[in-house]
Amino acid sequence: MVMERPGAPDVLRLVEREVSAPGPGEALVRHTVIGVNYIDVQYRTGRYLLPAYPAALGMEACGVVEALGPDVAGLASGDRVAYACPPLGAYTGRRCVPWDRLVKVPADVDDHAAGANLLRGLTAQYLLKGTCTITRGDRVLVHAAAGGVGLILCQWAKHLGATVIGTAGTDAKAEIARAHGCDHPIVYTREDFSARVRELTDGAGVDVVYDSIGGPTFEGSLASLRPRGLMVSYGTAAGPIQPFDLFRLNNLGSLFVTSPSIFTYTKARPELVERANDFFAAIRSGAVRIEPGHRFALADAARAHEALQARATSGSVSLAP
Ligand SMILES: NC(=O)c1ccc[n+]([C@@H]2O[C@H](COP(=O)([O-])OP(=O)(O)OC[C@H]3O[C@@H](n4cnc5c(N)ncnc54)[C@H](OP(=O)(O)O)[C@@H]3O)[C@@H](O)[C@H]2O)c1
Repeated sequence: MVMERPGAPDVLRLVEREVSAPGPGEALVRHTVIGVNYIDVQYRTGRYLLPAYPAALGMEACGVVEALGPDVAGLASGDRVAYACPPLGAYTGRRCVPWDRLVKVPADVDDHAAGANLLRGLTAQYLLKGTCTITRGDRVLVHAAAGGVGLILCQWAKHLGATVIGTAGTDAKAEIARAHGCDHPIVYTREDFSARVRELTDGAGVDVVYDSIGGPTFEGSLASLRPRGLMVSYGTAAGPIQPFDLFRLNNLGSLFVTSPSIFTYTKARPELVERANDFFAAIRSGAVRIEPGHRFALADAARAHEALQARATSGSVSLAP
């Protein structure tokens, strides 16, 4: 699927192209499941800039290694692998991928769990165990708790012993979040979530806010924190955060704010492999349950984008090549 220009979902169109043989350091991977992530929407609309057009989208897939170029270590043809990284171009049947971005998928983790959830799972992993360390007794607020990252974050934070407060756009999503570890879902489309967080924490506020919404929730997220609490702004699905005076963090209670990226936390291969294996272990132990999510044919990528952008999904979104 390629696009000639940024725009609405229907800029995505299907083309047929030869796939080149893998070059040095590359593996040719036949995809079985392709992940659709919110970051793809940001690239499609032009909020995140693509280097050139026509451009291919997609950062995540699971598949089987079909051939290896020179200078590849630790992989063999036939290996089941997954990746969650640039370069973009995962919305395709086959492609060459730098070998050091591939992780082997354990036999008891299925293609869907890996191919449509590795990027979200790695994100939840580093947010809980890298950006800060969530431990028993912590109180966290997870926005879009029934979303793709949200469902994994809620379950995993709960498993680590945290009390999880979550926001969701509808009652139905709130119930999905509740069934996935969220102790206190809040429907933030009708309720002031920061006031409710204060109530739920006896006025104290939460230790950490995981905010993937951006502009509309930023102030409320800061207002939900305890003194010296941590605001993790890891996405802007509803639009960017306006510039603000850093000194306000002082007045609000010596707050911390970070804007982290998965790509910093998985840049070094040992760290990528360790975090991916930790995510796979969380699936295998049952700490994190992966739902089927929303599945589309590769040629229907535009429909997948429409659903994700319209807040009509819960859990992962994927394409079948
Ligand atoms: N920094 C990183 O390393 C990193 C890595 C991966 C993902 N992310 C970010 O994490 C977030 C979640 O990604 P995801 O792929 O799993 O998506 P997702 O959470 O499944 O979908 C986005 C959700 O955001 C909520 N939302 C609120 N206002 C919205 C608006 N105006 N437009 C669209 N959605 C809105 C919706 O949930 P409700 O209807 O319940 O509000 C929607 O379902 C995204 O912001 C993504 O960019 C960041």
